[in-house]
Amino acid sequence: MSIRNYSSIDKFLAQVDLALKTITSEYPEHNRPSPAKNLSEPELTKSEKKQSASLMRVNHTGEVCAQALYQGQALTAKLDTVRQEMEHAAKEEIDHLAWCRERVVQLGQKPSIFNPIWYGMSFGIGAFAGLISDKLSLGFVAATEDQVCKHLVLHVEKLPSSDIKSRKIVEAMLSDEARHAEKALRAGGVNFPLPAKTLMTAISKTMTKISHLM
Ligand SMILES: [Fe+2]
Ligand SMILES: [Fe+2]
Repeated sequence: MSIRNYSSIDKFLAQVDLALKTITSEYPEHNRPSPAKNLSEPELTKSEKKQSASLMRVNHTGEVCAQALYQGQALTAKLDTVRQEMEHAAKEEIDHLAWCRERVVQLGQKPSIFNPIWYGMSFGIGAFAGLISDKLSLGFVAATEDQVCKHLVLHVEKLPSSDIKSRKIVEAMLSDEARHAEKALRAGGVNFPLPAKTLMTAISKTMTKISHLM
């Protein structure tokens, strides 16, 4: 079997395609169906619906950032094994991206208008971490996934109790993200010191507030 060599232009266009797919979250090829697929739409009051949609929009933005981070890291990873690990993780996150987008739309709202900005920032951070070292890059994944897990736990509490569809999605994501964090550390990621984690918490809180609103 012949192996095709891609030119720099091919690679650039593939990256642009991936970025557009991530931002619009148009991923017809996602693997697992939504965990909420077979559940009927719950009866929600207007304010419950708004609350659920805001939380799911924040989760969707988080998934856009996760995709961008992994894609940026895959671009600059030094070891092939690390690159493959990043690409595999990005593929798993596609499901989350599709599930969250679908739920936001079902709840009558749209994804955050700031997603292209968050995508660009996260892609840059991922590529930069990958340039420095694979260990830092993997450590960054672990720390990010940790942050995501904390958010998701909070979101499970904040979701209206009757919105079982959103809850099912968030719970499935939570179990995947915890596994991603563990895997990144096992693959050799550095454990980030507390000040770095505190800074990441502050940044993610700002992003959360903005995505909550629009
Ligand atoms: Fe995810
Ligand atoms: Fe993840």
